[in-house]
Amino acid sequence: MSLPRIAVLASGRGSNLAALLAARERGELPVEFVLVASDKANAGALRLAEAADIPTLALDPRSYPDRRAFDLDLFDRIAASGADLLVLAGFMRVLDGEALMPWVGRMINIHPSLLPKYRGLHTHRRALEAGDAEHGASVHFVTAELDGGPVIAQARIAVEPGDDEQRLAARLLPLEHRLLPAVLGLLASGRLRWDGHGPLLDGQPLPVPLAFGSDGSFAPG
Ligand code: GAR
Repeated sequence: MSLPRIAVLASGRGSNLAALLAARERGELPVEFVLVASDKANAGALRLAEAADIPTLALDPRSYPDRRAFDLDLFDRIAASGADLLVLAGFMRVLDGEALMPWVGRMINIHPSLLPKYRGLHTHRRALEAGDAEHGASVHFVTAELDGGPVIAQARIAVEPGDDEQRLAARLLPLEHRLLPAVLGLLASGRLRWDGHGPLLDGQPLPVPLAFGSDGSFAPG
């Protein structure tokens, strides 16, 4: 049987992509990576993909008339790669709602906050400024609403007295690196689906996001 084919979009250093590749190497994520694409030609994620012999694609948004034209071309090329599923791993662009439509239910994003808190940028700073006792990361299905699609699972950490923006981000990142491969594993295996209403795990609705534990397992939220 052929493995689920995955495309990844990333704008930056690519540590979440590295975590996905490492999980596959360890045999914990039985998928095939068919494309890593970026809106930044110098993204570290592209170098990681090249080193792993995964096809890469860099498209420059400035050479398109508008956002929709860029996104339509990007998604066309992703479809041409044969990808079944799409992972946003630090892809820092807002996506056009019409262009992403064919991928709804097949596209997930990792976001460094406990959604619905802090959609958008500067999530760590905003959690600190709000005096939150807890912070975390979420993996959600992508919809036209920025960081607004149904949340599948979340990993939480306590905010500590010595935390500043950098320290909080650095403490959260290792959890992101475990959460994203674990959720992709659920989706790729077919256990996780989205029927257009809410996420289903093993056919059962998820009324609240799964809680990702420090032991790497999921529990009802
Ligand atoms: C990660 O912290 C990810 O959660 C965040 O960007 C970082 C990418 O790091 N994503 C977002 O903020 C999306 N809204 P990486 O390039 O090392 O994986």
